[in-house]
Amino acid sequence: MRIIIEKDYQTLSKKAALILASQITLKPNSNLGLATGGTPLAMYKNLIKMYKKDEIDFSKVQTFNLDEYCGLSESNPNSYHYYMNHNFFNQINIKKDRINIPNGNAKNLNKECREYENSIKKAGGIDLQVLGIGSNGHIGFNEPAKNLNVNTEIVKLTKETITANSRFFESKADVPKRAISMGIATILKSNRIILLASGKNKAEAIKKTVSGKISTQIPASLLQTHPNITMLLDQEAASLIK
Ligand code: F6R
Repeated sequence: MRIIIEKDYQTLSKKAALILASQITLKPNSNLGLATGGTPLAMYKNLIKMYKKDEIDFSKVQTFNLDEYCGLSESNPNSYHYYMNHNFFNQINIKKDRINIPNGNAKNLNKECREYENSIKKAGGIDLQVLGIGSNGHIGFNEPAKNLNVNTEIVKLTKETITANSRFFESKADVPKRAISMGIATILKSNRIILLASGKNKAEAIKKTVSGKISTQIPASLLQTHPNITMLLDQEAASLIK
């Protein structure tokens, strides 16, 4: 596990964008695993800036998002489809048919999960996976539990995650209770992973993630078993690491 500590969120976001840009430069048809949430927003902004300056070409890139809420339409501003289109895809030259996000509105959600997992496999796996981390240590929507999902599955969100994510919704009651999420093995099969974390509210989860012990109660701690993982932290998120 490689740990890089940057002074603040903006610097961390620039570094993250540079890592993605170098991945695409080295392999223009890269399969990228992408995250939503507050943390990667400035990384996406930096990537858009680089695209506008002709520094990156996304035309051959394929993307796979980590997760999507169940029951929100793609045009719902709180869906991850909307988030990705609005904050990233609509502003770069990615081909629409190379964008993959689980369909949380599929008639048969179990089938959707299996097909999503297969589409990653068929594409040859993920070259570079970008992750955020929940303050409870979740990655994707793999919440702390006795057992964790291996593959893409339907998951129940914890109270903590519903509370944390309610900042994007009108009220807590509007936050969906279920989501589709890549499983732990889906994530760990990626060739390379970068996890971004910013702010004091992530410090405890980061401490437990890098502490040396692995526990399904801190799903991110399983990342320690990955041979090529970089933790990109700001000083606040890293403040409890010795
Ligand atoms: C988002 C995702 C989540 C977030 C995590 C942190 O696709 O999979 O695991 O990365 O909840 O969210 P923020 O960045 O909003 O603190």
